[in-house]
Order: sequence, then C-alpha cells, then structure tokens
Amino acid sequence: MTDEKIRSYFPQLMSERGGIRPVYLDSAATSQRPEEVIDAISSFYRNNNANPHRGTYTEAEDATAVYEKARTDTASFIGADACDIIFTRNASESINLVAYTWGMENLREGDRVVITIMEHHSNLLPWQRLCRAKGAELVYLYMNEDFEITDREIDEKVTSNTKILAFTHVSNVLGIMSPVKKLTEKAREVGAVTVVDCAQSIPHMKVDVKEMGADFIAFSAHKMFGPFGLGVLWGRNELLEEMPPFLSGGEMIEYVREQDATWAPLPAKYEAGTQDPAAAAGFSAALSFIQRIGYDEIGKREKAVYDYAVERLKDLSCVELYGPFDIERYGAIPFNVKDVHPHDTATVLSADRVCVRAGHHCAQPLLKRMGLNSCCRASFSVYNSKEDVDRLCESLLKVRSQLGLGDV
Ligand code: ALA
Repeated sequence: MTDEKIRSYFPQLMSERGGIRPVYLDSAATSQRPEEVIDAISSFYRNNNANPHRGTYTEAEDATAVYEKARTDTASFIGADACDIIFTRNASESINLVAYTWGMENLREGDRVVITIMEHHSNLLPWQRLCRAKGAELVYLYMNEDFEITDREIDEKVTSNTKILAFTHVSNVLGIMSPVKKLTEKAREVGAVTVVDCAQSIPHMKVDVKEMGADFIAFSAHKMFGPFGLGVLWGRNELLEEMPPFLSGGEMIEYVREQDATWAPLPAKYEAGTQDPAAAAGFSAALSFIQRIGYDEIGKREKAVYDYAVERLKDLSCVELYGPFDIERYGAIPFNVKDVHPHDTATVLSADRVCVRAGHHCAQPLLKRMGLNSCCRASFSVYNSKEDVDRLCESLLKVRSQLGLGDV
C-alpha cells in the first residue's frame, strides 16, 4: 500500500491550509480518524438514534444492537469474553474504576502498590490517592541507565505485601515497552493483581488478554482511530464479579428499594447512566479498519518511519534526542532543540504545519527522572511517511535561527 493511499483514508490529513497539508506527529495524544469511522458515527445519528438498553421500539433496539456489537467486536479483538468488556469514557476512567472498587475494597494499611516510573499520570494518580486514603505505600520501579527495568529491581520491590502492580505496556513519552512477562509472573508469585495501561500499545500491536496474563487492561478508542469519549476496561471475570460498582445510576441495577439496591449482572453493573452508542458505532468501524490494514502492515510501516526518524534526527546537531536507541521502541520520540523551550519549538513547527506535542506529556515524575521539565514529542501512526520526517527535520533546522540563536 502506498503512503498516499493510506493517507487518503484520513480526511484531515488531506486538508490543505495555504496550500500545505499537515504533518501530523501527535498520534500518541490522539490518532486521526479514517472516513469510515466518521461515517459510522454520523450514520448512527442519522439512522439509529435512540438510547440503548431502554426502549422497545425499532430505533431503540437498533441502538442497543449497535452498542452491543461494539462490545463483541472489542472482545474478539483482544481475545476476551464480551461480558468482561466494560465501556468507560477513557483509559483514565478505566484505571480509576479499578482503584476505587478493587483497590478500595482490598488495600489495607501497610500494603504496597507498585508502578513504574514511566507511568502516565492516569496510571499514577489513582494509585497515589488510593495509597493516601488507605495508608498504603506507593513504590516505583526505576529504569537503569540503559532504560531497562531489571529483574533485580522487580524482585526487590514487588514484595509479598504488594497488592497491586500497575504498569504501562508502552511509555507515552519514551515509546519503550515494559517487561510484561516478568511483571505478570512476579505479581502472580506474590498474589498481586496486575493493571496494564495499553493506551499506547494497542494502536501499534496486537494485545491479547490471555497472552498478556494480566488481571485488568485499559485503553482508549481515540488513540486507535476511534472516537473520543470511549474507553475500555477488560477485567478477569472473577474480579469483576466480586467488585462493587464504581458509578451508580441508570441501568446498572437489578432492583432498587428505598434504602438499598442490588446490581445488574456484568457488564451493566459498571455502566451507569446513558452510554455513547454513536462512539460505539465509530469504535466498531475503527476495529475493522485495523483488522483490514493488519497489525503486520501497521508495525512494518511504523518501524520503517520510526527508524528513519531516529537516523535523521541524530544527524541534526541542533537536536537532543532522549531515550535508548538500541532497543525496540514504539510510536514516540522525545526530543528538544538545544537551548530552546519546547513550546517555542512546537510553535515554530506549527507555522510549517508540523504538529508535535510539547510539555510534560502527563508524565512529570518520568521527566524529572530524565532531568527535564518538558520536551517535544513526535509520535507516529500508520499514516506517517518518511516525507513527514523530512518535513519535521526541515522545520527543526529553522527553529534556532528564528529565535535569534546561532548554529550549535
Ligand atoms: N496521553 C496522551 C499523550 O500522551 C494525551 O499525549
């Protein structure tokens, strides 16, 4: 498939301003959406618009069918059972759900929650708050100078009083993968539950819940060509069954009396209030899009562009690159232009329609550990090409001179 063909599926990538098309290098923040996802959302509102799981008329039944199809599509996409797929608003909400249900019920004073230093705030703050509320300890797995979390670090910190081991599959800043097998094995050994943030991995690679061997997995539709506002939590059935509800309200009950209530079976127990069936329709279309292109093709294209970007950026003396370059990385490259604040760099790039994120990337403890306050991040998806990297580099070469700085 040619670069132009892939790009042509994404309307926003084809839209020129001032005769220039955008170079979108911010897919770790949110991906672009293909036409078929946009059409599926619009088609729901045109043809099936009603509240799912409530009415008995045709449109309401259509809305229920569309919503539940997204659940079965998601389940088969990650090798799970549909009743164990909970729809939330985003990966953050999925992780909060686990913290405020399983965590609140099971964590005790003196227990330990272990996370990695690479976590996005969404897989850090819920545990920080939970530990404070329960008098438990939040412990970090640090990387060594080669950016590895060693077996020794894991064996020393994941102790017998560890109740929760939460980690990102792939870092949103460094693009590095966590040692999943070692972490899940160690958690099983000490009897801790594992929570894996797959928001930055599933856009790039196959995630299978059985292969991963975790207890909970969270991700967001909007980072994998789907709509905003739809997140997924998969949980091991026994755990989802025993946990209390997170949010309470419409449609998550079996029976409500004046002073108490009983809960609906899975997955409704965790889906209080009106859900978003239009987003669900868009997500089904996004999953079919990924299946049509295939993770092999996605991985191959992304690796070629990622490797090319690293080579080109290494050659720019004005650019400082962060992270290791001798291990496989996915999606994201953090960097700075020397002596320039990342927001200034991003603004200069923006004038050339090159879109990168600048800031702390919701991972402040990681950046602090790297000796940074902030940085730029170029992040890639299947629709990026080597030509995009060339445009990024051309634009980066202008940054210092536009800010009145000389050559490095
Ligand atoms: N989590 C998203 C990012 O890394 C928003 O940019």
